[in-house]
Amino acid sequence: MKIFKTSSDMRAWSDSMHKAGETISFVPTMGYLHEGHLSLMEQGTNISSALVVSIFVNPTQFGENEDLDAYPTNIERDLNLIKSKGAKAAFLPDRKEIYPENYQTYVTLEQLPNHLCGLSRPVHFRGVATIVSKLFNIVRPDAAIFGTKDFQQLQVIRQLNRDLNFGINIIGAPIVRESDGLAMSSRNAYLKPDQRDSALSLSKACSKVKEMVKAGEKNASRIKSHVKEFIESFPDTQIDYLSICNPDTLNEVEEIDREVLFALAVQVGRARLIDNILV
Ligand code: PAF
Repeated sequence: MKIFKTSSDMRAWSDSMHKAGETISFVPTMGYLHEGHLSLMEQGTNISSALVVSIFVNPTQFGENEDLDAYPTNIERDLNLIKSKGAKAAFLPDRKEIYPENYQTYVTLEQLPNHLCGLSRPVHFRGVATIVSKLFNIVRPDAAIFGTKDFQQLQVIRQLNRDLNFGINIIGAPIVRESDGLAMSSRNAYLKPDQRDSALSLSKACSKVKEMVKAGEKNASRIKSHVKEFIESFPDTQIDYLSICNPDTLNEVEEIDREVLFALAVQVGRARLIDNILV
């Protein structure tokens, strides 16, 4: 497996692969890999002849009081995992490579960030859209795979792919869960053992919403107030948002008369957790 640290080496390799008739799939990550990332890589190897995985903890998508400096890393373990999934290349740029002195250009979206996580993390999607656009330009993949746990992120990336004419096949992969239902996340590492039950309130809330809708409940406010009470019954939980929205626009829905997204973010101790379900 090739390991590239500079954008020029990464891009030269991608160009030579394309010239040789290879197809490239791409899984961008911030490292500290878990089963969720591995399932994205498996999809990548299934649909292309060359999988590329990047590891870059992107500073521009973290707000001032967020966990950039504490973000967990384990590069050696990550590289072994990437290799074990059959990747042909890993891209590990350093911060100066991506954001050199006098860096000035950012990608912003007009509407999708004004919902869900974007409300409490105002710079987040500008950072995500910028780094993903840069990585797309450097790696030049044919397809890129993202988890649906970050549903809003996936929609932002689909939108920028259309708006900026990247022409990349964007694939959303299902949420991978621990055996008890907790959605896999690098931030689960922040949970103390006694906060596990509280962390499970998110996936349980998703199941509750599914049941309520299946039983005929159509009123989004009633569902959200029921779920709010449920989550608040767990210690150490602080709800950031509960949303029932249109999955394409992320606009809130009051009357459920077609497929909706239920999405939530809850702070459990030090960990900010998110989860979602389409119902
Ligand atoms: O989902 C992530 O890990 C990050 O937001 C991404 C897409 C790698 C961009 O930094």
